[in-house]
Amino acid sequence: MTAITALDSAERARLRERAASCCVEYRNHPLPTGCVPRAGRIGVEDNGTTVLLQVDRKVRYVGLDAEVHAWVTAGTHAFSDLDTAIEWLSSKLPEPKVARAAAPTAVRYPTVDLDAVEAESEDATRPVSAPELEAAIREEVVGQAEAVNVIATTVAHHTAKMRPRRPVSILLYGPTGTGKTLVGERLATSLTALSGETWRSLRYDMNEYSERHAVARLHGAPPGYVGHGEGTSLASELAANPRCVVVFDEIDKAHPDVLTALMNLMDAGRLGSSDTGRPATRSVLLFTSNLAVAPGGDQEEMARRALIERGTRPEVVGRFRHMCGFTPLTGRQRAEVAARSVARVAADYGLSVSEIDPAYLRRVLNDTRHSTIGVRALEYLIDAQLGAQLAAQAAGTTVRVIGADPQVAPSARTDATAAPTSDASCLVPGDPTAGSPTNAQEKP
Ligand SMILES: Nc1ncnc2c1ncn2[C@@H]1O[C@H](COP(=O)(O)OP(=O)(O)OP(=O)(O)O)[C@@H](O)[C@H]1O
Ligand SMILES: [Mg+2]
Repeated sequence: MTAITALDSAERARLRERAASCCVEYRNHPLPTGCVPRAGRIGVEDNGTTVLLQVDRKVRYVGLDAEVHAWVTAGTHAFSDLDTAIEWLSSKLPEPKVARAAAPTAVRYPTVDLDAVEAESEDATRPVSAPELEAAIREEVVGQAEAVNVIATTVAHHTAKMRPRRPVSILLYGPTGTGKTLVGERLATSLTALSGETWRSLRYDMNEYSERHAVARLHGAPPGYVGHGEGTSLASELAANPRCVVVFDEIDKAHPDVLTALMNLMDAGRLGSSDTGRPATRSVLLFTSNLAVAPGGDQEEMARRALIERGTRPEVVGRFRHMCGFTPLTGRQRAEVAARSVARVAADYGLSVSEIDPAYLRRVLNDTRHSTIGVRALEYLIDAQLGAQLAAQAAGTTVRVIGADPQVAPSARTDATAAPTSDASCLVPGDPTAGSPTNAQEKP
C-alpha cells in the first residue's frame, strides 16, 4: 500500500482528484508516535473548501503532542489544502531510522510489518472475564477461594492484553493434595472453553530437573544433533502453542541452571534465544512448592522469605507476580471432594450416581482423617472400595451408594448427578456381599 507521506507530485495530483469526489482511505498507515495501535486507517477528503485528514476512531493517543491529541480525539483535522495536510502528518510521524544524509530530500519511513501488527492485535481479541474464569475453575476445585480468585483475575487480565511483554508467573504453595496442580489443569480447560482458543496444559516435575544437564531437556536437541526438531521439549511445545498453562511442580527441587533458563522464560517468554516461533508471552506459568507459612502477617512476603530460605534465589522469587497459598481442606470441603470422587470413579466405569448416603461419606472421611497425603487418600480409598462393585455393573447403569448398614436411608444427593431412577442399583462400598443390582424402590 502506498504511504500518503511518500507521494511524489504526480501521485499527489491523483490523490487530490480522487479525494475531491470521495474519501480516499489508507489502511494500516503508520501513525504518529504515541498512537495505539501504531498503524491505523487514515482517510483524506477534499470537501471543496478544506481537506480533512481523518483517523480511525479506535486509535488512542498516549503522547503529549496537543495537535495529534486533538486529531485523534476528534477523529478528523481540517487543512487548507492537501500538501499542508500531508506535510503536517509527515512532521508528526516518528523519525525514520535511516542516516539523514543518505536521503536529504525524501522522507523515509521505517518498514512496518503491518501483517504482523494486524495478526497480533487479532490474537488478543478474545479476553475472558475474571468472574467467568473463576466460576469455571470452581466447578472442579473445592475451596481455596482466595488463591483461585487471584489466579483467575490475574490470568483474565493477561488475556486482555494486546501484546503482553512476558508470561504470567505465579507461585502456588501449600500442603500436598490441596489442589495446586488441579488448578493448573482446570485453568487450561476453562480458558479453552471460555475463549474458544486452544489452551494446552503442560506439567513438569522439577524433581526430574535437579541435575545440571537436565536444562538441555527443556531446550530439546540442538540443530545437528539426534532428535533435533522431534519430541516435545518445553521449548518446542511453547514455540508450537502460543497459549499454554505450564505447571512446574516442586520448583524448589530444580537445579540452579534450570532456574536460570526458567527466569529467561519468565522475562521474555523464550527459553534461550534460538527457539523458533513467537515468544510464549501469552502463556501462564504456575510454579508449585510444598513450603509452609505460619498463619498471620503478610502471607505473600512470608512465602517469598520461606522460599528463599529453602534455597531459591531471590531473583527467581522476585519474578513471581503472586504467591498464592493453598490450605488443607475443611471437613465439609473434603466431603464435597469425596462425593465428586464417587461420581468420577463411577464415570470411569461408564456409570452415573444418583445418590450418596452421608453415612458412607462420613466413614470415608473418618478413615482418611489422619492421612498425610491430603484428599488423595479419599480418592484412593473410594476407588479401592467401589471399584470391584462398579466393575460388576452394566455400563450405563445409575447407582445409589449407601452406607454399610443397608437400613440407612440414602438421602444425600450429589451435585450434578442424575435424578434417582427406579432401576438404580444400590452399592454398599466395602461390603463384599453387595454389588448385585437391586431395585432402589425396595430399599427403605
Ligand atoms: N481443592 C480441591 N478440590 C477438588 N479436588 C481436589 C482438591 N485438592 C485436591 N483434590 C484432588 O486430589 C488430587 C490431587 O490434587 P493435586 O494434584 O492438585 O494436589 P497438589 O496440591 O498439586 O499436591 P502436590 O503438592 O503433592 O503436588 C486431585 O486430582 C483432585 O482430585
Ligand atoms: Mg501437584
